Amino acid sequence: MDKCKICRKKTKPVISFGKMPIANGFIDDPTDKEFFYDLKLLFCPNCFMVQLGQIPHPEMMFNDTYAYISSTSSTMARHFKKQANEIIALLASRKDPFVVELGSNDGIMLKHLAAKEIHHLGVEPAANVAALAKKNDVNVLIEFFDQKLAKKIVRTHGQADVICAANTMCSLEDLNGAFEGFNILLKQHGTLFFEDPYLFDIVSLTSFDQIYDEHIYYFSGLSVEQLAKRHKMKLTDMKHQDVHGGSMRYYIKKGGSNKRSFRAAEWLKKEKELELDSSNGFKKFKKRVNTICRNLKQTLQKIKSQNQQIVGYGATSKSTTLLNYTHIGPETIDYISDNTPTKIGKLTPGMHIPIKAHTQFANDKPPFTVLFAWNHKKEIFDKEKAYRKKGGNFITYFPKVRIQ
Ligand code: TMP
Ligand code: ZN
Repeated sequence: MDKCKICRKKTKPVISFGKMPIANGFIDDPTDKEFFYDLKLLFCPNCFMVQLGQIPHPEMMFNDTYAYISSTSSTMARHFKKQANEIIALLASRKDPFVVELGSNDGIMLKHLAAKEIHHLGVEPAANVAALAKKNDVNVLIEFFDQKLAKKIVRTHGQADVICAANTMCSLEDLNGAFEGFNILLKQHGTLFFEDPYLFDIVSLTSFDQIYDEHIYYFSGLSVEQLAKRHKMKLTDMKHQDVHGGSMRYYIKKGGSNKRSFRAAEWLKKEKELELDSSNGFKKFKKRVNTICRNLKQTLQKIKSQNQQIVGYGATSKSTTLLNYTHIGPETIDYISDNTPTKIGKLTPGMHIPIKAHTQFANDKPPFTVLFAWNHKKEIFDKEKAYRKKGGNFITYFPKVRIQ
């Protein structure tokens, strides 16, 4: 029986997706060696943490060929500018404040603090994206965050007023170690906040494609509250974010006596209503996942049987789970259009669908396009107004399969 990575108690299985390649492991050639692991999701009835069973080694995922670059989406650029402004407002009355961001990627958020000459530091293990941040005058350490690094940062920079992270905490396997690091790095009245895909949204939308190697943990207020408590900290607030298909930003303070906001209490209540504190809720989730997969396959097969072209839009990490679990490959999807330079010309992990530049999509105007980047639907529908007007169809699949 798999043990919970946080509290070491017995977990319950939620769903198994079988053998999976690394979600961001795009390859150049079909003969390139790929690493496969067993993708399965577990639920801990003791501390409510939803987590992966097997985890590929972090260096397999976050290395110098890491393909995910935050700034390819204008929505994300706006989102992080807003986050930077929130930090700037929070620090307005503090003298020479210091901000640390874990997983600073290409500096999409910190560059706004750098521009205001706010003392900051990014911690980013992927050297290629860290190099992009440095070009934006962002200070970055190319390292994984742990207690040792926390001590090193305090020695050279002092303690932090704000520690923040976006889409990073969920991929730190040793979360207990990270929290011990936060206790070292954070000032007594400092604020820690982090945002990640929200379990409530994943379960209510059935967006199971959020489940992949980089997302080791699937947080809810319920699990984050327990985690903070374990480390003598307090979950004080929760703010829902409309990015990455629904994310939650958790605010945490040092010391258990801090107050929890009304807003956070409301979210915890909603989470319990969705049964995120019992394996019952997850049984229903698993059933819905398999219904969507069946329906999507049938829809695509029907289109193919009418000899119509199908392509994909957005070679997302998320699509690796969907494509490999459903075994949808280049026999069904001709190619996937993507605007990330590091992905163009490569093949998707496991199923080997070619990735092509957007110009190909614009030329082809394929009749059907599976929207793998469904979380950017608004931005993409705005961009592709002409395509849809001329009869192009997008296929989406959460919470159910739709052609629109
Ligand atoms: P994400 O869902 O992890 O943010 O990844 C989105 C992917 O979709 C990323 O590879 C970039 C790609 N993309 C496009 O190709 N065109 C677009 O208009 C947008 C918003 C994203
Ligand atoms: Zn646990």
